[in-house]
Amino acid sequence: MPGDSMDKPNIVTCTAPVNIAVIKYWGKRNEELILPINSSLSVTLHQDQLKTTTTVATSRSFQEDRIWLNGKEEDITHPRLQSCLREIRRLTRKRRNDGVPCLDLSCLSHKVRICSVNNFPTAAGLASSAAGFACLVYTLAQVFGVEGELSGIARQGSGSACRSMYGGFVQWIMGNQDDGKDSLAQQVEPETHWPELRVLVLVASAERKPVGSTSGMQTSVETSCLLKHRAESVVPGRMAEMIEAVQKKDFPTFAELTMKDSNQFHATCLDTYPPIFYLNSVSHQIISLVHRYNGHYRDTRVAYTFDAGPNAVIFTLQQHVPEFVQVLKHFFPPETKREQFIKGLPVNHAALSEELKQTIGLEP
Ligand code: ADP
Ligand code: DP6
Ligand code: CO
Repeated sequence: MPGDSMDKPNIVTCTAPVNIAVIKYWGKRNEELILPINSSLSVTLHQDQLKTTTTVATSRSFQEDRIWLNGKEEDITHPRLQSCLREIRRLTRKRRNDGVPCLDLSCLSHKVRICSVNNFPTAAGLASSAAGFACLVYTLAQVFGVEGELSGIARQGSGSACRSMYGGFVQWIMGNQDDGKDSLAQQVEPETHWPELRVLVLVASAERKPVGSTSGMQTSVETSCLLKHRAESVVPGRMAEMIEAVQKKDFPTFAELTMKDSNQFHATCLDTYPPIFYLNSVSHQIISLVHRYNGHYRDTRVAYTFDAGPNAVIFTLQQHVPEFVQVLKHFFPPETKREQFIKGLPVNHAALSEELKQTIGLEP
């Protein structure tokens, strides 16, 4: 009936940040439940950086569930979207049966309209599926009045999404149960733990990756014996070392483990048959630059990591940011600067010491 208050949609909007894995998840032991072959660890970025914003509306008048992603309607029957919707509705029903009051029980039978926008490139190796599904599950939970542990549901949208349900340093414990009930995210340290730590995101290409994470890791599980070795014999020890480095705020150890893990992940991609190439020449230049920079100081001041795409995420400490940004600007100047640079015109890098300029290949 027009004007009936029951017809008014219930609308909630939330945001969720991306997380960047420093010990990578790559490979599933159960595709449907999204159960990984190894545990992983990540850093969740701040909400004001790379994030997803999702609005969910429910109304008695909606005929069917629908979703729009970055303004374009997507297929709501996608099994991962269906898993998240089903699990949130199941939890709502369970709470009602347990006698726990929910915000709005009438909306349980209502259909939802979901509108989600990423403020950064989607499917480009910058963890859009992580922020996207974390935000979807959190917003649905708000609409249906569900509280408590939700990382197990976000995991069923996209594995990496379970880690974006928490801030700070987060591990996804692989678990060993067949039903996945023990495959959950857990905060290792809160976001306030290491205030000097800084993250720089270097976008080498905003294009969609040619091989999505889901199919890429599937082929790796089927064909790469290096991946099997990594999951069974490398990651367990590395997880323990990484947690200790984070707890102690030991940057050189954190940085070295991060770079080695990124490199091993990309090595497993090369070991996949047919091989998967996520890095490009700009990524390789960034890797070389970081090693030359650290080599110059005989100290590990900067670390890189790359997800399933060519874009670099740099970790460093606050005190090294200005100088390292100068170095980056010299090698990767903005378009107009780049043209000038190619033509041999001077570029402002006066802030760097003469010795550093020589070491990293700048003219004296
Ligand atoms: P990425 O490296 O960006 O995480 P993936 O290949 O893992 O790339 O996942 C990309 C897919 O994640 C998209 O094609 C889309 O299906 C899903 N996705 C991305 N953003 C969102 C969002 N905001 N809401 C729901 N799903 C999303
Ligand atoms: C390289 O979580 O995107 O970013 O579970 O199939 O959705 P699905 O894959 P996804 O894989 C992320 C892989 C990674 C490493 C990581 O985030 O741990
Ligand atoms: Co992803």
